[in-house]
Amino acid sequence: MVILLGKQSESPTTTTFNPKVAHPLDPLRADEINKAASIVKKKAGLGDHLLFETIVLSEPSKEDVLAFKLGDEISREAFVVVLNYKKEEVYELDISLKTANILRCEHIPGVQPAFIFEDFAEWESKMTHDPAFVEALKKRGINDPDLVMIDPWPISNFDVEGERGKRLAIGRCWVRREKGDNGYARPIEGLSPILDLNKNEIMEIHDFGVVPIPPNDGNYAARYQKEFRTDIKPIEITQPEGPSFVVSGNEVKWQKWQLRVGYTPREGLVLHTIGYEDGGTVRPIIYRAALSEMVVPYGDPTNDHYKKQVFDSGEVGIGKCANSLELGCDCLGEIYYFDAALYNSRGEAAELKNVICMHEEDFGILWKHTDMRLKETETRRSRRLVISSVATVGNYEYGFFWYFYQDGGIDFQVKLTGIVNSAAVPPGVTPKNGTLVAPQVVAHNHQHYFNVRMDMMVDGMANSVYEVDTVRDPISDENRHGNAFSVQRTLIAKESEAQRVIDPFAARYWSVANDSKQNYLGHPVSYKVVPGENVLPFHHDDAVIMKRATFMTGHMWVTQYNEKEMYAAGNYPMQHAGGDGLPKWMSKDRKLENEDVVVWYTFGHNHIPRAEDWPVMPVVYTGFSMRPSGFFDMNPALDVPPSMNHCGCSGECNCH
Ligand code: CU
Repeated sequence: MVILLGKQSESPTTTTFNPKVAHPLDPLRADEINKAASIVKKKAGLGDHLLFETIVLSEPSKEDVLAFKLGDEISREAFVVVLNYKKEEVYELDISLKTANILRCEHIPGVQPAFIFEDFAEWESKMTHDPAFVEALKKRGINDPDLVMIDPWPISNFDVEGERGKRLAIGRCWVRREKGDNGYARPIEGLSPILDLNKNEIMEIHDFGVVPIPPNDGNYAARYQKEFRTDIKPIEITQPEGPSFVVSGNEVKWQKWQLRVGYTPREGLVLHTIGYEDGGTVRPIIYRAALSEMVVPYGDPTNDHYKKQVFDSGEVGIGKCANSLELGCDCLGEIYYFDAALYNSRGEAAELKNVICMHEEDFGILWKHTDMRLKETETRRSRRLVISSVATVGNYEYGFFWYFYQDGGIDFQVKLTGIVNSAAVPPGVTPKNGTLVAPQVVAHNHQHYFNVRMDMMVDGMANSVYEVDTVRDPISDENRHGNAFSVQRTLIAKESEAQRVIDPFAARYWSVANDSKQNYLGHPVSYKVVPGENVLPFHHDDAVIMKRATFMTGHMWVTQYNEKEMYAAGNYPMQHAGGDGLPKWMSKDRKLENEDVVVWYTFGHNHIPRAEDWPVMPVVYTGFSMRPSGFFDMNPALDVPPSMNHCGCSGECNCH
């Protein structure tokens, strides 16, 4: 579905098309998207009322990709999901782009596709002018439907009579005071149109009663700001010789790192074949890494706010919501942008510019030591490679950032910003399950969960995962003073043991090891997954979302690789009753020792809103880290040179 088109920052208005498919993992080019859709329309016999939910590269097998050599023939297949919105049927198709044949066309019963919106503005205007909806607005003193905003939210699945089998959304409504102000400052509480997405109409209106529209503006745009602080001096990031990375198509080489950059409409950023050059060879670490799912469950029981539990990846398509990034705003310095070719609901390729930003950042001190007797100081500056994209999902923004460090470290960080979901309460009411962020405006308690799927390949396919706790040694003859503590490594041997939670008091991490390879000290080579901030759900065990998003209930999940298992909550979370994805696959209880393993790390941010989150929220950071642990023989960054004319050389050495 996506084509990535390399573009250098110095020529921001021109795009260099990658004219040939150079690698089996190159995302579909625009012409391939168009071709796949046209084959479906001409040959599948699925009728005229088709909406294209997915058109992506069907990734070749891992074996084929790893055996690929430059110049080998590349077979291209597309994976397509279409909806016949008249018959309300979803089909999956595998398309050979080479032979223009349909390899598989399968009706998938009982599922709903993710959101498919063509012209959102036109759709919203039609809904806001629905006569019954206009009446409900009038009851609230709102006479201009053009000032009303309806955000369609996935309806979840509470097994409601009349909703089964229909493709529906709940409209969450706000009203602007004037065109151009922040509409989220004025929630229309208690008014929820139920939107039939197949018929493109309001099916019914749930009216829980009139609540006054909050009185205050909540504007953040520069044009509403009365004055700006005046004491900021410019910061310029300059790299006179250009950045240190080399890009060839979708392949990136940066110092010792090598990887491929990809993008899908569902997952957003996808990284492939991540490896680190060591002793003349590139040692593989991760075969494929991407956000597999995310969900935001809310904690307010009033009206229908309990239905707010959006899977922004599987139900909305976080990659479809990507921003075109701007130099100097989203990214600072010498930037390399990748574009993406997405598609519209008719299956026509559409290009999105500057979707992925890649650049280098100075990151403080990499390592340092002063020999106090020799009075010699050695300091190295740390630099990291940043690959990022930002998505806007209605009121909220999510930035997804991969960081690569010179010492072999990898971080994944999500940056949360935008506008908190707002609801209204009557004057004088103090909400229990949220925070008043402005008079009569409540932001409900909620959590953001992200699951990142990492198909591991630490120095080869056969890996094992260990849970590593630090434990206090018992008092004994060897530990008479009670100071001893040691590390306890527990193999996660099979899937029935592979749903784990963090334990900060045991300093718990997970080590993905290749037991058949050792470093020179005899340690099995490994990368460890190190938790950052994390949390568990506060929903009751029998709450609907606990079945639909079971991946929230553990932090580290491990499965044996299966190419069909990609998304933590299953392929079709939209309106799904639950039980799909990780819990279903892991019931097979497959063996995990020395196997091709996939780790699925879930991390959650618990968002109890603050007054300071209003009217637009300062960025919150959440994520996790991966660090080499016995992967190298020693600190792999000794060869990072001292900075020119700065540290490490006080004038007499010849290190430059
Ligand atoms: Cu939040």
